[in-house]
Amino acid sequence: MITKYNNMPIIRQEEIQQALSIASDQVLRNLPEFTYAFQNAFSEQGFYAPIENNHWTNGFWTGEIWLAYEFTKDPCFMEAAEIQINNFNDRIIRRISVDHHDMGFLYSPSCIAGYKLIGSLMGKKAGLLAADQLMSRYQPVGEFIQAWGSMGVPDNYRLIIDCLMNLPLLFWASEETGNMTYREVAEKHIKTTLANIIREDHSTWHTFYFDLTTGAPDHGATCQGYRDGSAWSRGQAWGIYGLALAYRYTRCEEYIEKFRHVSAYYLEHLPKDMVPFWDLEFTDGSDEVRDSSSASIAACGMLEMAKYLEKDEAQYYTQLANQIVKSLYDNYAVKDFATSNGLVLHSTYNRHSPFNTCPNAGVDECNSWGDYFYMEALTRLHKDWVLYW
Ligand code: GLY
Repeated sequence: MITKYNNMPIIRQEEIQQALSIASDQVLRNLPEFTYAFQNAFSEQGFYAPIENNHWTNGFWTGEIWLAYEFTKDPCFMEAAEIQINNFNDRIIRRISVDHHDMGFLYSPSCIAGYKLIGSLMGKKAGLLAADQLMSRYQPVGEFIQAWGSMGVPDNYRLIIDCLMNLPLLFWASEETGNMTYREVAEKHIKTTLANIIREDHSTWHTFYFDLTTGAPDHGATCQGYRDGSAWSRGQAWGIYGLALAYRYTRCEEYIEKFRHVSAYYLEHLPKDMVPFWDLEFTDGSDEVRDSSSASIAACGMLEMAKYLEKDEAQYYTQLANQIVKSLYDNYAVKDFATSNGLVLHSTYNRHSPFNTCPNAGVDECNSWGDYFYMEALTRLHKDWVLYW
C-alpha cells in the first residue's frame, strides 16, 4: 500500500455539499444556453461553446444535469435532461456520428440515467438501440470491440482502453432484454483487453492492435499519450474505473488484483497534489499541463471498487479518492462563474507530442467528462449512489 499521501487532507462532508451546490448552480446557469444545444467537448479560455449532438462527449453534459437533479431535486433539471434524451433518441435513430464504440459514454449518463432515475421509456429505447450499435462493432476474429474507423480495416483493427467504460451499456441491455449475447460480447472484450493492455510494470497501452486474419495480439500504441510506451494519464484512469466496473458486472476475482496493480502504478506516478500531468511520464517539476479529468475518473473507480473489498482495503481506496477530490475542490474547481462556465479547470483533451498522433485540442481547459466525473465523485462521496454505468 502506498503511504506517501497519508498526510494529504480529505474532503469534509460540508465541503462535499458545498462543492455539489456550486456545481449544480453552474449547471443551472448553463441551462438556458445548453438545453437544446450541448456543450463542446472542451472549453476555450474557460468557456464552452454550444454544439449539436454529434460528438462522443455529449452524454456527459446530460449526465451533469442528472447529477444536479439528484442533488437539488429541482424539476427544471429533469425537464432539461428529458429534452436531451429526446435528442439522443433522434441521434441513434438517424445514426448521427455513431460509427464508433463510444455508445456507453454517450448513452449511459444521459439515457440510462434517465431510465433509472425517472423511468424514461425513451431513454430505455434509445439505450437499447445504442447497445445494438455497440454490438455491431464486435470483431469475432480477435474477440474485441473495434474502437474507431471503418470495420475491419488493418490500420484500425484495434481496441482502446477507454472502451471498458462503454461495456456497462451491454450488461444493462442483457438485464433489460434477457438476451445474454450483449453480456457475452462485453465479457469477451474485457478478457481480450485485460490480457493485452496492461504491461508488465502495470502501466497501460492506450490502444492495442490485432492481426486482421488470425486475431492474434499484435502491438500496443498510443494516440493521446506522450509516446507509445508511456502511460497516458487518462488511459490509466479509464483502466482503474474500467476494472472496477468489470469486477462489478462479472465478479471475476482476477480483476481485483489487476485493479490493485493498475491503481498502484497510477498513484506512484502522481505529483504531490495527486492530480496528474497529462501523461504519467511527467511529474513534479515538469512544466507540462495537467489532466484533472483523469484524477476525477480514478477517484470514481476507487470508490466503486471499495464497495467490493474488505474493510481495510476499502478504507484505503476511499481515503485516496477523498484526498484526490479534496485537491480538485481546493485547487482546480471553478468557484468564480465569471471566469468559466465549466466546473473543473486544468484538464487536457489532446496534447500533441512528437511521438503521438493527435493534434492539440482542449489543452489546459475544462472538458465535459472532467466536469461530469468530478460531480460523480462528489455524489459518490455524498450518498449511496445508483450508478448510471
Ligand atoms: N475516450 C477518449 C478520451 O478520453 O479522450
